[in-house]
Amino acid sequence: MAKRKQIKFGALIHGVGGNVSVWRHPEVLPDASVNFKFYTEQAQLAEKGKFDLVFIADGLYINEKSIPHFLNRFEPITILSALAAVTSNIGLVGTLSSSYSEPFTVARQFGSLDHISGGRAGWNVVTSPLEGSALNYGKPAHPTHDERYKIAEEYLEVTRGLWDSWEDDAFVRNKETGVFFDPEKLHRLDHKGTYFSVQGPLNISRSKQGHPVIFQAGSSESGKKLAAKGADAVFTGQENLEEAKQFYREVKERTVAEGRSADDIVILPGIGPIIGRTQEEAERKYEEIANLVTVDNALNYLGRFFDHHDFTRYPLDEPFPELGDLGSNSFRSGTDKIKAVAKEQNLTLRQVALQAATPRGQFVGTPEHIANLIQRWHEEEAADGFIIHSAIPSGLTDFVDLVVPILQERGLYRTEYESDTLRGNLGLPVPANRYTDSKVKV
Ligand SMILES: Cc1cc2nc3c(=O)[nH]c(=O)nc-3n(C[C@H](O)[C@H](O)[C@H](O)COP(=O)(O)O)c2cc1C
Repeated sequence: MAKRKQIKFGALIHGVGGNVSVWRHPEVLPDASVNFKFYTEQAQLAEKGKFDLVFIADGLYINEKSIPHFLNRFEPITILSALAAVTSNIGLVGTLSSSYSEPFTVARQFGSLDHISGGRAGWNVVTSPLEGSALNYGKPAHPTHDERYKIAEEYLEVTRGLWDSWEDDAFVRNKETGVFFDPEKLHRLDHKGTYFSVQGPLNISRSKQGHPVIFQAGSSESGKKLAAKGADAVFTGQENLEEAKQFYREVKERTVAEGRSADDIVILPGIGPIIGRTQEEAERKYEEIANLVTVDNALNYLGRFFDHHDFTRYPLDEPFPELGDLGSNSFRSGTDKIKAVAKEQNLTLRQVALQAATPRGQFVGTPEHIANLIQRWHEEEAADGFIIHSAIPSGLTDFVDLVVPILQERGLYRTEYESDTLRGNLGLPVPANRYTDSKVKV
């Protein structure tokens, strides 16, 4: 029998919310996306709930149709570095694009965050879905979906190589002898590939977790391939048990096929629990959030996934329009799913837009109901854990105060951190330094 693992939790902190209109909710601080006190309180609350990590998403292009949180928000590495100083155990995971950055810089940034936090850093490697990103980085064009993933693969190879520049005992720092480091334990990468040419070495050593934890969030074929090859964790958008099981099985099988263990990758679907003392109260809370969204808001929101396509040009109450390939070069897995569900369920444009903007999900109900669902998803191998994205701030408080104790009581969730590193808490191996490792094998 497979070894019994405890459930893992991450908290997505997203300022005024991941929805078009939730910033208008009475509970939401209208400047939350740039309010450090808010981020501190949410991170400390997640830490009180013994969460494995906080997660900061990101994007590189906005226009006037972007959702409020995207318009004015913290850059992930900056906010995570600040959060490192006000937390002590929780992992700090941030999104950074492999299509619009340089591996040497990013390896340094996450290497630094990993030291600052004492081994709690994680990097969500995204390929950037939005075409407009190219305009902000002086690029002639946004690379195609396939090419973005090829870049990401080489990018990860380079950053991993750079992180191994220094063997773990390379810094001697002997004041008497004047030996600061052992040159035998310093290694140049000398990478020359299709997209990157990086000599190295990196000017920061490994932290106690070896490498920052690598997250991956794309769910297309190429996304799954990248995850299986080298990610430590996957943040995914499944909200339906059967689909989540299938995704879980597939990613684990592919990981094993790549010569890794199924336990080397942690799969974390994102869920947005809405918790009430009764089912009715939870439903009322959901309605309160959903009713803030107008149809125009919803059409804008939907448009972003299809490269800011203008959906106002179609009739609202007729079947969802035929869009051909639109969307497949941006959020491919997401847009493929929207098109397929619309077809299968014969949905109108209005229905599709409202479902996208205010997804109800299954996780609406009493704390017991939510805990039961979480237990079921975990037991049926649909998830190793979950990224909790609460529409309103009290969603996280309710989760920590009401759902966490039930799972602890059932022995499914930790009551204390097992480790002070993110890898340690997620139960992931510390990657050996490639140079030390090869010496040992000789
Ligand atoms: C749950 C989830 C979270 C994501 N978070 C981000 C993010 O923070 N920033 C970003 O640019 N893309 C994000 N993405 C987009 C993916 O990284 C990817 O670029 C996009 O989904 C297209 O790739 P795919 O077709 O392989 O899914 C996210 C996707 C999912 C499913």
